[in-house]
Amino acid sequence: MSKPKVLLTRRWPEAVEKAMASSFNVTLNKNDKAITAAELEQALHDYDAICPSVTNSMPESMFKAESFKTRIIGNYGVGYNHLAVDAAKSRGIIVTNTPDVLTDATADLAMTLLLMLARRAGEGERQVRAGKWDGWYPTHLMGTQVTGKTLGIVGMGRIGQAMAEKAHFGFGMRILYHNRKAIPESKERELQAEYCTELTWLLSKADFVAVHCPSSPLTRHMINEKTLAYMRPNAYLINTSRGDVVDEKALIKFLSKGLIAGAGLDVYEHEPVVPEELVAMDNVVLLPHLGSATEETRVAMGMRVLGNLNAFFNGEEPPDML
Ligand code: DGY
Repeated sequence: MSKPKVLLTRRWPEAVEKAMASSFNVTLNKNDKAITAAELEQALHDYDAICPSVTNSMPESMFKAESFKTRIIGNYGVGYNHLAVDAAKSRGIIVTNTPDVLTDATADLAMTLLLMLARRAGEGERQVRAGKWDGWYPTHLMGTQVTGKTLGIVGMGRIGQAMAEKAHFGFGMRILYHNRKAIPESKERELQAEYCTELTWLLSKADFVAVHCPSSPLTRHMINEKTLAYMRPNAYLINTSRGDVVDEKALIKFLSKGLIAGAGLDVYEHEPVVPEELVAMDNVVLLPHLGSATEETRVAMGMRVLGNLNAFFNGEEPPDML
């Protein structure tokens, strides 16, 4: 029997490309050039499986045809707001993602942003590189202590909880969280975390606010002009989830008026576009969507996709079916 035809839309770490190639008839993107929407739509008629990632938008309009060759979309990533999952399912196409394997890497990056903001690390690094550092003095780039401060976590899923653990046990922070529902009491006790049913209450109490909820119609612009107004002027916002959870225009307004102390962003509303206003601000740390970018994690993500495809083509239910 011929092997299923599988498309990887971008280069993957070599180990997973090899593993995929041993199980399937794989088309690799050797020069790593971004695939167009038209090519992606055509791929739905040419491949048994497509493995897209966050930059490959597959909206409802892509699933209008009566029938497709593709039977499974194995997303390389945990977030799937770029995929019209219901439309795909309505055409009998299964969609999977890669949960768990990027939890620690993403929480580590959120912690990196938190520490960089608190200790003005981006400013310091830019100063040294520009040859503008003129030696130690008592008031040079004074930041803020993290120990004992309050971290408000918006979205207490896997990544939110990992962030809480790192912040609480590693850095002695007090944890507040807002979520659709409370986490189990035993976990709350372990983290000494306090559940805030009202987002605004959390925002008004936190020194650092870390956004960890997925993007959905419910969370779009959850951090907006109204909710930002509850944050303290000395508080920092960190976002490693999806750009559209934060209303970027409102954030820029609050930062430029000094109504909040700073922001650490790994994701943006219109990636890879980063508003000039943010680039110009010293109290903002900007990273290029690096949450899951460790060798170990990116390999594990690929292996997770492979596991889903293997299960599907062996007639089993893929473990990460959405
Ligand atoms: C994820 O897995 O959701 C990362 O943000 C990359 O898509």
